[in-house]
Amino acid sequence: MAVRGLTPKGSDPSLSVSDCRGRFPIFDSRVYVNSCSQGALSDAVRASYEQYLADWDEYGAPWEYWVDRQEAARASFASLVNAGPDEIAVTTSLSAGVSALASGLRFTRRSKVVLTDWEFPTIGQIWHAQEARGARVVHGGTLEELDRLIDDDTLLVSVTHVSYRSGAMTDVPRIVEFAHERGALVLLDAFQSIGSLPVDVKELGVDFLGAGVLKYLLGSAGLGFFYCRRDLVERVWPTQTGWFADENIFAMDHTDYSPAHTAARFQSGTPPVPAIYAGIAGIELMQEIGIAATRAHVNLLNEYFVAGLDELGATLATPLDRHGALMCVRSTDSKALVAALDGDGIVTSERDGNLRVSAHCYNTVEDADAVLAGLQKHRQLLA
Ligand SMILES: Cc1ncc(COP(=O)(O)O)c(C=O)c1O
Repeated sequence: MAVRGLTPKGSDPSLSVSDCRGRFPIFDSRVYVNSCSQGALSDAVRASYEQYLADWDEYGAPWEYWVDRQEAARASFASLVNAGPDEIAVTTSLSAGVSALASGLRFTRRSKVVLTDWEFPTIGQIWHAQEARGARVVHGGTLEELDRLIDDDTLLVSVTHVSYRSGAMTDVPRIVEFAHERGALVLLDAFQSIGSLPVDVKELGVDFLGAGVLKYLLGSAGLGFFYCRRDLVERVWPTQTGWFADENIFAMDHTDYSPAHTAARFQSGTPPVPAIYAGIAGIELMQEIGIAATRAHVNLLNEYFVAGLDELGATLATPLDRHGALMCVRSTDSKALVAALDGDGIVTSERDGNLRVSAHCYNTVEDADAVLAGLQKHRQLLA
């Protein structure tokens, strides 16, 4: 199959998408196309964990430095989404940030929460849990349905940027328009987009955003972040909280609750220090490689992959006119297909009857060819 130029213009010549692969040892033994589940381990992230252990060993309890690292993570997240550090909470998961938000909303004059049908389970679960506090939760799949559901009773619209089970990208600006013209707020789950394409909270117009570092930001489990638009921070009073959400964490005052005047009020207990070391290293590596360059590179790889799928007669579950890095392929038995490919040394994942193939900065045309050859070999499992 003919391969068009796969070196995108504008990539950083010091460490581009075409030469970053050597930083990820897994490619010595596997074809790894599963970044929608977990980014590949880099030498930089491995070294950051070793540094954490060395610091712990050498200094014992360097908590001032570790709190400082939390501030460095906050600054990294802020620069990543074009927010101010005061608009960012450093959390232990996306769920933790969204739950802190949910716990601080009052479902009184406006009580409706509108979700898309494409949300990750945690989002649905968090908002449905608020039904005990008076929330009315409704779901819609299409833009037309969402337009109909979002009304003057709507407090919040909760949308995913890229669906974890179809790869479809939501038309966020359009939904923000529906929501804001009716006085509702918008929360974006950016876990399946962050690190794979530029995400700018100002451009998207969202009020809140949650994500984590373990996929396209190349970090590990245990670290997430939550963005809250500056002028909304003090309008939310989280009741799911902890001492790292306090206006002064070192005041050690157990006699009152005075949440931070910044988005740190959405934090909770002791920060996930080891994951912070790794998260900072992962984000720095992604920024060095280039997130926009990665998006361009992966778009080309995906075009190539889709052309190959077409030749195989496979059915794509991902809409071609709006998608993220993730491509989903229909299967008659997606678990069996993941296992069969794994036996061939190809790491993928599955959800909702779809095989999930997600390329990132480190993947190549050879990886796409290997997946296509695997699908050809196991074509009886394609729907
Ligand atoms: C789109 C999306 N949202 C949320 C999550 C879960 O986030 P967390 O476990 O950090 O709460 C995932 C994890 O796979 C995801 O893909």
